[in-house]
Amino acid sequence: MNEKAIIEKLSGLIESNRLQHSIRVKECAEQLAAFYQEDVGKAALAGLLHDCAKGFDDKELVENSIEYGIRLDTISLYQKGLIHGPLGAEIARHEFGVKDRKILSAIKYHTYGRKKMTKLEKIIFLADLIEPGRSYKGVEELRDLAWKDLNRAMLRALDNNLIGIIAKGGLIHGNTLETRNYIIRELGLGKIN
Ligand SMILES: [Fe+2]
Ligand SMILES: [Fe+2]
Repeated sequence: MNEKAIIEKLSGLIESNRLQHSIRVKECAEQLAAFYQEDVGKAALAGLLHDCAKGFDDKELVENSIEYGIRLDTISLYQKGLIHGPLGAEIARHEFGVKDRKILSAIKYHTYGRKKMTKLEKIIFLADLIEPGRSYKGVEELRDLAWKDLNRAMLRALDNNLIGIIAKGGLIHGNTLETRNYIIRELGLGKIN
């Protein structure tokens, strides 16, 4: 599928503002990939498709997950918005013909990360949060960090995420904690005693 055909198909799955966000994530991911010597084409495709399952309502998220055989954890069943990552990977595979495992896992883990994230996964995770259409408290600092050090940017992004969830009284997905612990160790930090 060429990019034009993908965008055409995507426009049937997600609203236009989400599509515009996806195009900006694609562009941002391409730039980060070039900067950090990752595959630019893979970053582009993962960025474009990362939210392809974001247009489903809660019921559709669950029904589609069952159809694709996705095992849903208890946190995702409670906070169904989280499902769009793993479901997006399956939609990318089955509806858009993406076979590359690296691209699929970057889509799958773009909301809560995972231990031992690949460089491509970090790039998509961060591009989603810093694309030029994003504006929230702390986005400039995160943008700066993303161009300095992927792991330091990941730590900041995960901290922002946790602080935001705690402020709202939400549930924390285990992957978010595991990812943060892993990144802290990668950075050689976290020895607080
Ligand atoms: Fe997303
Ligand atoms: Fe997104």
